[in-house]
Amino acid sequence: AQTPDPAITDLSQQPWTQYLGDGVDARPYGMPSPYESHVIRRDVPWLTADAVSSVNFTPLHELDGIITPNGLCFERHHGGVAELDPGSYRLMINGLVDTPKVFTLQDLMRFPRENRIYFLECAANSGMEWRGAQLNGCQFTHGMIHNVMYTGVPLRLILEEAGVKTDAAWVLAEGADAAAMTRSIPLDKALDDCLVAFKMNGEALRPEQGYPVRLVVPGWEGNMWVKWLRRIEVGDKPWYHREETSKYTDLLANGKAREFTWAMDAKSVITNPSPQAPILHGPGPTVLTGVAWSGRGSIPRVDVTIDGGITWHQARMSGPSHDKSMHRFYYEFDWDGGPLLLQSRAHDSTGYVQPTKDMLREVRGENSIYHNNGIQTWAVNEKGEAENVEIT
Ligand code: MTE
Ligand code: CO
Repeated sequence: AQTPDPAITDLSQQPWTQYLGDGVDARPYGMPSPYESHVIRRDVPWLTADAVSSVNFTPLHELDGIITPNGLCFERHHGGVAELDPGSYRLMINGLVDTPKVFTLQDLMRFPRENRIYFLECAANSGMEWRGAQLNGCQFTHGMIHNVMYTGVPLRLILEEAGVKTDAAWVLAEGADAAAMTRSIPLDKALDDCLVAFKMNGEALRPEQGYPVRLVVPGWEGNMWVKWLRRIEVGDKPWYHREETSKYTDLLANGKAREFTWAMDAKSVITNPSPQAPILHGPGPTVLTGVAWSGRGSIPRVDVTIDGGITWHQARMSGPSHDKSMHRFYYEFDWDGGPLLLQSRAHDSTGYVQPTKDMLREVRGENSIYHNNGIQTWAVNEKGEAENVEIT
């Protein structure tokens, strides 16, 4: 500190020291700093024919910790965002029940509610990567996921209010959007941990996420988390709707499709460094970080390698560890300025270890799109730039 640093000594470069700032209420609903304006959801224009039945991606490389801010939760709609009026919102329970019911939003608020943190991952997350490395950025390869604290009523309590008949074995969840998205869910799951949720991270659900009410189906593929939830029908068999037959099933090498793949297997990705987040500081102390999750439990351990799998290191976990929630890991190392091959490998609480993409292809062939939880590789060059690659 021999030469003065103008960023400290030259007040003319620091207008915020010269003038009073905005008073309270300049922004009644707060927004991030204008310097963070690049931190946004992004889409991949060529992926879908139009924006109404489309998807955008969570900027995972700009986030830390485990909670996804509401405005950055990726969106996946089959018929655009339904703008429901909460005053005329109704949830109907019908089918194999003793007393069919209709609840208003106020009725739902009179049930005991719970707060739980869960990830939602679209079954199509990483789907473009099945046949080889394709998209440059973890936002695009892994950004069809968000991790949110939901406030909601256990679906069990609502079903008990209607009285489920003894021959019931399934429920059908139906959305009020133009796509009227519908999925069959086994009754056991509905009675176990599903929530009829109306708050995300403390505030009302965002319209994009199903305002005023969405179904939360912990650990299971995002498609089942019906948004703008308007009806639950109780039945004795699955309905085999479009989203559980022609879509969201895995076509195997022999041409047969696997029926119902609900739980999302353990997965992880290094978010920094990554293609959209190169190493800018040169050799020396470097922080590698990423996220891991499992639809079957928690993540007690993540391994990372910086040399393409020759040596593995156990990453340091930091932050809350909940079942079916995102976990944050770190690995601090001294970068020698040479090329790196970065990978992470999640272990979940059942003992399952995240497979390589080749291991998945051996079992499933190359027809699949959905349920790709293979290990991701980033190649980092001497300049610190990262690229999506596959190594064998
Ligand atoms: N629910 C309705 N009613 N309509 C939809 O289009 N999309 C599904 C699911 N629920 C959808 C829906 C899919 S495929 C996913 S991955 C998740 O919602 C996405 O939830 P998000 O938009 O909150 O990220
Ligand atoms: Co989806």
